[in-house]
Amino acid sequence: MPNLSQLLTSYSSLESQRVFEACRDLAVENDGVNGVYVVGGVVRDLVIGREPGDIDISVEGDAAGFATMLASRIGATAPVESQFLTFKIDTSDVFETFATIDIVTARSETYSESASLPDVETSSIEADLLRRDFTVNSMGISLSVETWGALFDPSNGFADILRKRIKVHHDGSFLDDPTRIFRAIRYASRLGFSFDARTEQLIENSIEVIDNLSGDRVRREFELILNELGFVEMLKSAEELDILAAISPGFRIGAKNFQILESLTENHQIPNDNQDLLALITFGLSDDEAAQVVARFNGPLDWGESIIGNAELAKRVTVLDRDDLLPSEVEELLHDVPEASIRAYQQIGPPLPRQKRLKDYLETIRFVTPEINGDDLLEIGIPQGPIIGEIMDIVRRARLDSKVVSKQEELELARSRFPGFLTS
Ligand code: CTP
Repeated sequence: MPNLSQLLTSYSSLESQRVFEACRDLAVENDGVNGVYVVGGVVRDLVIGREPGDIDISVEGDAAGFATMLASRIGATAPVESQFLTFKIDTSDVFETFATIDIVTARSETYSESASLPDVETSSIEADLLRRDFTVNSMGISLSVETWGALFDPSNGFADILRKRIKVHHDGSFLDDPTRIFRAIRYASRLGFSFDARTEQLIENSIEVIDNLSGDRVRREFELILNELGFVEMLKSAEELDILAAISPGFRIGAKNFQILESLTENHQIPNDNQDLLALITFGLSDDEAAQVVARFNGPLDWGESIIGNAELAKRVTVLDRDDLLPSEVEELLHDVPEASIRAYQQIGPPLPRQKRLKDYLETIRFVTPEINGDDLLEIGIPQGPIIGEIMDIVRRARLDSKVVSKQEELELARSRFPGFLTS
């Protein structure tokens, strides 16, 4: 069994070393613990030579007691138990280089049906590693004092790292857990690895099981992709493997969208705002397609607003090419379209006169306000009520179209319109 103790010391951050050493000591102090291992992404990244993220620990034996002791030893708040014999320690107040430590009870998993929650049974570290998604994520390094640094690699993940391969353990892997399809894309692109031939075939044969995932789970996986630096390449892979269409029929990303996303990436101008990002990704979907995508992702109320907004803007935008259009009419057309959709249109839409209108709207029109306010209207004797809003609206439109250019003219317009309202 190869010994990788150097990875636990010389190649790990001082903060990780502190955790690994605490684990080693606590395994001795807690009689209920038979073995402790750092597993999953940390081992993969240490072997590759990448900076690891959050720490995953697998415990043979009393994981609950171990997690409580570890949290206290490193000065973190008590662990929170999540599903499947898993305990999470929030380390964000204690460490800078990682935010959580997940401690799982070593276990095997069986799935009664596709995408269901697994049935879980405590087991050895080997079985725990073999229940995982890909061989490269299925290695553990022992933190126990007697075997400190020993590599547990029951599926030869080390060799797959050398061959730069993403490989599942068995043919039913994606059926058991369809989120692995998204994970496969993430790892391949992030690490610069390829799928081994069987894994690629299995993805192609399994994409319809994405249907079995709840909207929340698909959204979570999609958002994990969007959080990655290389998300554009990942979306391309998803498009090429027909995964987007498997999420929702009609969901596709056009060549122009990709071109813009790539150039924004190159220039470090990818928007931080999720609505802007979603608008750029989904630009070009029809009304129905946009509505279906948003429903499929099942997000919070305003989650897909720029996706719907894109389709809405596409229906209205041709009018903006008319040269006799007044600023107030531009405002009327655009005031309820999300800004993110307008910005996406500016970047991906065709170079027609409408572009100038969109620019004017975002840069000036939407900020124009009358000089007068409701109090001024009350002062000249207009009674309180909805009519105040209606007259303010008329004044604002007149201001936008430069029909009034001073406070005096605004007040005159308000006075002149008041009797009209009373009689209509
Ligand atoms: N895992 C799995 N199947 C999943 C989710 C997770 O097998 N659907 C296993 C993998 O062994 C993975 C580990 O649990 O390495 C931790 O999961 P996660 O934190 O999601 O992944 P990491 O490998 O740590 O990768 P990342 O760097 O993206 O955080």
